Amino acid sequence: MLKLATVANLSRRRVLHGVAASACAALGGAQALASPPGALGHARAELLIRFAHVVAPDTPKGLAVERFRALVSQRSEGRIQVSVHPNAQLYGDHDEMQALQLGAVEMLAPSLSKFGRVGFAEFELFDLPYLFADLASVRRVTQGPLGARLLARLQRQRLVGLGFMDNGFKHMSANRPLLEPAHFAGLRMRVQASRVIAEQMRALGARPVTLAFSETHRALAAGVVDGTENPVSNFWTQRMHEVQSDLSLTQHAYLGYAVVTNQRFWEGVNVADRQLIGEALAEALAHGNAIADEQNASALNALRQTGGARVHTPSAAQLEAMRRATQGVHDALGQRIGAHWLADIRQALQSG
Ligand code: SIN
Repeated sequence: MLKLATVANLSRRRVLHGVAASACAALGGAQALASPPGALGHARAELLIRFAHVVAPDTPKGLAVERFRALVSQRSEGRIQVSVHPNAQLYGDHDEMQALQLGAVEMLAPSLSKFGRVGFAEFELFDLPYLFADLASVRRVTQGPLGARLLARLQRQRLVGLGFMDNGFKHMSANRPLLEPAHFAGLRMRVQASRVIAEQMRALGARPVTLAFSETHRALAAGVVDGTENPVSNFWTQRMHEVQSDLSLTQHAYLGYAVVTNQRFWEGVNVADRQLIGEALAEALAHGNAIADEQNASALNALRQTGGARVHTPSAAQLEAMRRATQGVHDALGQRIGAHWLADIRQALQSG
C-alpha cells in the first residue's frame, strides 16, 4: 500500500495549496474554486479538475489532455473546467501520486513505468524489452480485458484507472551511438523508477540511475548521467538534443500512460457529470492514440532537420544482439511482475 504522504513529504507550498483547494472544493461554489493557483480563469466553474503531468504540451500526452480539457468545457458549457499543469509545474514524479491521494490534484497520467514504485509491480510488464512488436500489439493488451483488469487493480489504493494512453517506443541516447550492447559499457543511464528498466540497463552493461523526468535534462547537462531513453517526442520537446549528441533508434521498449483519479473525488461527482467526463476522456485518449505515431515521427523529422543530434539506425544484427542481451530481464523480473500476468500478456499477444 502506498503510504500516504505526511504533510512534510510534499513541499509546504504545494500541500497548503492542495489542502486549501480540497477544502474549497468541499465547500463548493464558484468563489471557492477561484482561489487555488492554476484555477485562474475558472472562476465560474462548478467543478474544477486539476490535471497535472510532466511532459510538454506538444507531445501525444499533452495534446490528448488538451483535447480532454476542451471537450469537457464545451460539453458542460463551462460548468466543468479542467486546468492543465504540464512540465511538472505543479507536481512531478516524486510527489504526484501523493498529491492525488491527498486531493491536491484530481487527475494524472503517469507513465506505466511509475506504478511499480507505488505498489503496482504488474504495470512494469509494459517495460519489458522487445515485448511488443508495434502499437497494435500494445492496444490488444490495453484495450482488452487484460487492460481492464490492470486498471481495476488500482482500486486497492483508492485510485480509479480511467484509461490507457500511448506515447510510443523508446530509443537510447548518449554522447555516442548506442546500437549494440558493447556500446553501453560503463554508462550511467537515467531511468524511470521501474525495476524492469533498471534491470534492462544492467543487462546491457550500463548503470541505471533513477531520476525524475523533470531533472533529466539538467542531470545530462551536468554530466551526472551519460544517457537516457525515451520516445522521440519527449527527447525533442525536452530539448535533450542540447545535451545528447546521439540518438539511436533502438525501439527497445514501450512508453505509455494510465489516466488516474482519486476514488473519493470521483465518487463525489454526480453520475451525469461522471459520464460526461468519462466520455470526453475516452474520446481524448482515442485522439491521443491516433496521433501518437505521427507526433513521434514529426519530432524525429524536426530533429533531423535541425541537426540537433546525430540519428542512428541499428542494423538487424545489432537489434538482434540487443534483444538477446535483454531477454533475461523477462525471467529475472517475472516474479516481481507476477507469472500469471506474464502468461496472460503472452496469450493476449499471441491471440492477435
Ligand atoms: C512521460 O512521458 O510522462 C515521462 C517519461 C519519463 O519519465 O521518462
